[in-house]
Amino acid sequence: MASDTQQDFERPLNPAPKAVIVGASSGIGAALARKLAAEGYQVALLARRKKLLDVLCQEINEEAGETRAFAYPHDVTQYNQIPELFRQIVQDLKTIDVFIYNSGMSHTIGLSEYDFEKDLETMEVNLLGGMAWLNQAATLFDRMGSGHLVGISSIAGDRGRVGNPSYMAAKSGMSTYLESLRNRLARKGAHVLTVKPGYVQTDILPEKHPPLPVATPEDTAKAIYKAIRRKKQVLYTPWFWRYIMLVVTHTPSFIFRRMSF
Ligand SMILES: NC(=O)c1ccc[n+]([C@@H]2O[C@H](COP(=O)([O-])OP(=O)(O)OC[C@H]3O[C@@H](n4cnc5c(N)ncnc54)[C@H](OP(=O)(O)O)[C@@H]3O)[C@@H](O)[C@H]2O)c1
Repeated sequence: MASDTQQDFERPLNPAPKAVIVGASSGIGAALARKLAAEGYQVALLARRKKLLDVLCQEINEEAGETRAFAYPHDVTQYNQIPELFRQIVQDLKTIDVFIYNSGMSHTIGLSEYDFEKDLETMEVNLLGGMAWLNQAATLFDRMGSGHLVGISSIAGDRGRVGNPSYMAAKSGMSTYLESLRNRLARKGAHVLTVKPGYVQTDILPEKHPPLPVATPEDTAKAIYKAIRRKKQVLYTPWFWRYIMLVVTHTPSFIFRRMSF
């Protein structure tokens, strides 16, 4: 964080809790914004699509009858803007209780396609932008000795499947990175939650996917909120993915490599 003065994190009496969501313009991020605002949070919402953020803020603020949502248009691959933007958000909100990195994207990759341009974008949005933002929030929470850091990873990070190698590598990296942050920040009093959604009905969901249930963004947001409240470390959502992935991670390689899953 650029500014390290104590008054940056001071809270007035009876404050509303504050949350930041990076990647809030659609899907799971927008559902989280609505859920947290409905629970009384003030929310700082970031993403590239300003129009969607403005409409979401207006909807939340009208519903609440007061200003609870604030839009900050931002592209997470613009790493050099992040320290100043984070400082601005801390100054605007006064403090942060929950910080969520949700931004993500996925290309459709053919089974014989090896395209570094697509890999690079995938790593930048799903992993490197996450590190750049989570480092800022981790620095703040380390100093505060409190706070909830949440990263939206995926079941895709649990095993290297044939479908989309860089997306799986990015999510695997995100899960490991979050575990390291958890182990560092636990001794300071801050919590880190890794979220591993299964299939959720959003723009990212590939048309072709195994015939397993698809969750709504709203149910996913509810499960994430509950996990934050319960200070969970890792959330598979819906719950049955924990057991599916237990089987997947224990399937021997000579069988796994023949599967198209
Ligand atoms: N849907 C699923 O089945 C599923 C399963 C497992 C994990 N996930 C993860 O869940 C998270 C949310 O995805 P979603 O399913 O809700 O899809 P989504 O509706 O496409 O949401 C993706 C969010 O990421 C933001 N984003 C993408 N590129 C960005 C960039 N360069 N800078 C800033 N923000 C960027 C998008 O905002 P802008 O485009 O406005 O920038 C949008 O708000 C992702 O991390 C995804 O990998 C999804």
